[in-house]
Amino acid sequence: MKLWGGRFSGRRDPLFERFSESFSLDQRLILYDLRVNQAYVKELGRAKVLSARDARALLRGLVAVERDVTRHPDWARGQSSEDVHTWVEARLERQVGTVAARLRTGRSRNDLVAADTRLFLKDALRELERATLELLESLLAQARKSLNAVMPGFTHLQPAQPILFSHYLLAYFEMFSRDFTRLEDCRRRADESPMGAGALAGAAYPIDRERLARELGFARAARNSLDATSARDMVLEAIWISALTLVHLSRLAEDFIIYSSPSFGFVRVADAYSTGSSLMPQKRNPDALELIRGKAATLIGKVAGMLALLKGLPLAYNRDLQEDKFALFDSVDTACDALRLMARLVRTLRLNPARMARATALGFLTATDVADELVRRGVPFAQAHQQVGRLVNFCEARNLTFGELNASQARRIIPSWDAKLIAVAKSISGSLEQRQVVGGTAPSSVRRELARAARLLARRSRQLAHD
Ligand code: ARG
Repeated sequence: MKLWGGRFSGRRDPLFERFSESFSLDQRLILYDLRVNQAYVKELGRAKVLSARDARALLRGLVAVERDVTRHPDWARGQSSEDVHTWVEARLERQVGTVAARLRTGRSRNDLVAADTRLFLKDALRELERATLELLESLLAQARKSLNAVMPGFTHLQPAQPILFSHYLLAYFEMFSRDFTRLEDCRRRADESPMGAGALAGAAYPIDRERLARELGFARAARNSLDATSARDMVLEAIWISALTLVHLSRLAEDFIIYSSPSFGFVRVADAYSTGSSLMPQKRNPDALELIRGKAATLIGKVAGMLALLKGLPLAYNRDLQEDKFALFDSVDTACDALRLMARLVRTLRLNPARMARATALGFLTATDVADELVRRGVPFAQAHQQVGRLVNFCEARNLTFGELNASQARRIIPSWDAKLIAVAKSISGSLEQRQVVGGTAPSSVRRELARAARLLARRSRQLAHD
């Protein structure tokens, strides 16, 4: 069956048919397509474009097809069609006969595919929000459990200052919280009904587009028929948010890959997410994390592809737009899986607080605290920085930590070196305690943020359950 045979003669080249078909992919939209068609024929009936009898027959037919499809998960096996919309019309004709020819009165595949895609998008975004919440929950649960773990914080991957492991996890909590709000935001923008836009100029029948939008569960009707049929920025946005989510996951993956290597040994990834080597019996490889890092690259490519797809497309619909679904399905599927995988991996991560603590003894993590103590005694910071730098240099040359330094040696570089300064230089917990600013790593600040995060999560889960 073709939806557009009238003015053509001869057959399409089979190579072109295979090249242009999208059924193998957009069959995934089947239930959305049936839903949109059902709402549309109801509206045609209400608007008296179709007789009540025809509208009823079509609706009954569409409902029967829906029942058939939901009963048979492999309904598409052995089927072929130009696209899912064509398949539905052909299937409907078998169901109800010639009245099927009235289905697309005033309607085009252009407004139809735009509507199907947006309905899919709204569900997919909600699913992504759920998966993001799962990760947020597991980050928070792990952060609550690990308040006793202190590790070196890094910049440039060089030891910098001590931080709580919980504080480190909460950094990712913030990142994924922002991704969550991006998803919500995108879902609001996708919430417009293209139906009634026709092929490009608007339906020539007295359709109440707002009523139809509500029937479909959209917040409103899209306000311009050209835009409604040709806009895909909401698709691009979902792809981009998926890619950004993967980029955030990839950073977390990279951290865990480093922290789980035996040279660090801060964390251990559960066996369920590790693999071995076919040659080296001792190996435990973090493949799950590496794949997340790798899939981030693929999704970045999808964003570039989708941007390129839209750039320079003349208004309104062009067949190029069919490519959007390849990118969309792959992006949201990958992001959902990766979020859930990471949620489980974080939940089952085993920490080694002793190894972390040992690492905090190296790298002069309290150097800034010593300088700060000198500042409290009236030394200008630049000078304090200089003096402590020399002290570090001295220790490094003799392979000493601050703790191992003896006082008379230290006094040659910092004349005021006394018991207080020694204590500051030795105390990792003292360094943490100093950082009580909002968002700092002092245990009291971190506990406050943990409580705040818990409240935020509870509110979001409640909201998501509602809308
Ligand atoms: N399979 C097409 C797509 O996904 C459906 C719309 C086709 N419209 C057209 N005018 N050829 O974009």
